[in-house]
Amino acid sequence: MNAPLGTQTSIAGQALPPHHGGKLIGAILMEDGRLSQHDTERVLHVAQERGLRFGEAAKRLKMLSEDDVQFALARQFDYFRVTPGRSALSGEIIAAYDPNSAAAEGLRALRSQLMLRWFGASALHQTLAVVSADRGEGRSWIAANLAVVFSQLGERTLLVDADLRNPRQHSLFGIDNSVGLSALLSGRRAENCIHRIPQLRDLSVLPAGMLPPNPQELLSRPFFDMFLAEIRKQYDVILIDTPAAADNADAQTIAARAGCAVLVTQKDISRAARVRRVLSDIRETGAQVVGSVLSKH
Ligand SMILES: Nc1ncnc2c1ncn2[C@@H]1O[C@H](COP(=O)(O)OP(=O)(O)OP(=O)(O)O)[C@@H](O)[C@H]1O
Ligand SMILES: [Mg+2]
Repeated sequence: MNAPLGTQTSIAGQALPPHHGGKLIGAILMEDGRLSQHDTERVLHVAQERGLRFGEAAKRLKMLSEDDVQFALARQFDYFRVTPGRSALSGEIIAAYDPNSAAAEGLRALRSQLMLRWFGASALHQTLAVVSADRGEGRSWIAANLAVVFSQLGERTLLVDADLRNPRQHSLFGIDNSVGLSALLSGRRAENCIHRIPQLRDLSVLPAGMLPPNPQELLSRPFFDMFLAEIRKQYDVILIDTPAAADNADAQTIAARAGCAVLVTQKDISRAARVRRVLSDIRETGAQVVGSVLSKH
C-alpha cells in the first residue's frame, strides 16, 4: 500500500461508528432538514442492532444518499476546525487547521486504507508505530496529522511520542513536556502525563518527557508493555511516533511492542536500500508493516 499525501480519495463509508458519533451525524442532518427526529432514531436503532455505522445504516434504509453522508462528515470536520492564531497548535497540524485541504484529504485516504488493513490485522486494540529510516522524513508530521484525522472520526485517539531522542509532538500540540513517556517507563503512573487536546474532538497526547540518557534500555523495560496494555483499554487508536530507525534499535523495539507499523518514505530523498533494511528489521521482530506513506514535502 502506498498513499501519497494529496491524493484525492473519497472518504465514502467513513461515517462515525454509532457508539461514538452517530448521534452527532444525525443531529447535523436534522438541523439541515435532511432527516426527521423519527428517522434519526430509526437509523440509530438499526445501526446499533446490526453493528453498522450511522451513515451506512441510513443508506441501507434509503433515508440518506452518499451525498448526505459526505455533507454531514464535512460539517463535522468543520466543527473541530481550529482557527489559526487562536490556538497553541502548530500550523503544521494541517488536518486541524484546514480539513478541506488536499493534504488533509490524503491523510483521510491513508486513514481509510489503514482501517482496512490495520484494523483487520489484529483483534486487539489498534496500536501503530510510525517509522522511517532516516531523520526528517516526516514521521512526526504524519503521526500528528493522522492522529487528528482518526480523532475527527470519533475514535478515542492517543498519540504517544516515543522519540526519546528528538521529540517533537509537545511542540506540535503546544503542551508541556516536563513529564511524559520517559517518566512513565521509569515506573510512574500515566494519568498526569497524558494531555487531552481541547480543540480536537477526541485526541490525547503523551509527550516524550525529559530526555533520558538510556532510551533503548527504557523502551525495552516491561513497563512499556504494561503501559500499552493499560492504555489499550482506554483508547480505540494509539499512534506512536518513533526515532529514525536506521540510527538505533528504538523504532524496532517500539514496533515490536505495538505489533503494527506504517512506513514513511520521502519522495526523491529516501534511499531504497535503507528503506528495505528497515522493513526487514521490523518484520524480523514479528511486527506487521500494514502500510506505507510517500511524503512529498
Ligand atoms: N507531508 C508533509 N507535508 C508538509 N510538510 C511536511 C510533511 N511531512 C513533514 N513535513 C515537514 O518536514 C519537516 C520534518 O518533518 P518531521 O519533523 O515530521 O520529520 P521526522 O521524520 O519526524 O524528523 P526527526 O527525525 O527529526 O524526528 C517538518 O518541518 C515538517 O513540518
Ligand atoms: Mg520526528
